[in-house]
Amino acid sequence: MTVEVTSGKNATIAIITGASSGIGRQFAIDLDRDSRLDEIWLCARREDRLRELAESLSKPARILPGDITDKKWREQLLDEIKAERAQIHTLINSAGFGKFEAFCDLDCNERMVEVNCQALTAVTSLCLPYMKAGGRIINMASVAGFMPQYKGAVYAASKAYVISFSRALYQELKDRDITVTAVCPNPMKTEFFEVSGIEIDANPIKKIGIEDVEKVAAKALKRSDKGKDMSVCSLTAKTLRVISRILPHRLVLWFERKSGF
Ligand SMILES: NC(=O)c1ccc[n+]([C@@H]2O[C@H](COP(=O)([O-])OP(=O)(O)OC[C@H]3O[C@@H](n4cnc5c(N)ncnc54)[C@H](OP(=O)(O)O)[C@@H]3O)[C@@H](O)[C@H]2O)c1
Repeated sequence: MTVEVTSGKNATIAIITGASSGIGRQFAIDLDRDSRLDEIWLCARREDRLRELAESLSKPARILPGDITDKKWREQLLDEIKAERAQIHTLINSAGFGKFEAFCDLDCNERMVEVNCQALTAVTSLCLPYMKAGGRIINMASVAGFMPQYKGAVYAASKAYVISFSRALYQELKDRDITVTAVCPNPMKTEFFEVSGIEIDANPIKKIGIEDVEKVAAKALKRSDKGKDMSVCSLTAKTLRVISRILPHRLVLWFERKSGF
């Protein structure tokens, strides 16, 4: 585990998983202006990306390259939190990925659950004892978590898990004055789509309501500061949330299948 510039022991820190790209990187840029934080800890597998980001921030930043599903990496993270007597103010669980094909045609179904659900839960669990009162957890979910998705069965289920987990934890941590916010954006143009293999511009349905990464991150931080358990940014995402509550999911899935969505 690599240690970069540090601000000393007992620092109040933010930990961001998935910080090497997309919205995780944007959160790091935004938190660089947060006066409550002394240090930002950046986590992802691509060390070069993390180093580049750390160098661009004005706050001391520490890079912790590794795979969040690797138990050894998580143990090292815990050791580092303990050794530095760090107090976690902000934990952002942004590491995640999605692949969209028929369940039987995908070879990464278990891996999606491992990264999006199991590792997110494990990182949250190891960080919680070191979280300050007044702190916050921001979990990247998705509109995909509002209802089941045809040819996105595991991804949508993994994000439904993140929403459900976050909302229950929000209530459990109220007495500790820690806020948990599930962020549910529509598609955002990030490397997510390179990994997923979907050509977003060629998909008329996925193209609807593409969200801006900067706006989604800013809104999520604002909602968490207001003590809200959900952050749903755009009108399209809010509409999808309402639809998911009104229409029978069987009907939505039937439509998705028939329309080749
Ligand atoms: N983009 C969208 O349309 C969209 C919409 C709704 C929700 N989301 C969710 O938002 C979150 C962030 O996505 P994004 O759009 O920012 O995508 P992204 O640009 O692909 O970022 C994903 C991040 O996760 C990290 N990551 C993936 N697997 C990892 C692993 N095993 N260990 C450690 N780090 C890992 C990646 O870093 P390394 O590759 O360097 O490890 C990267 O930093 C995800 O949870 C995603 O499901 C995205």
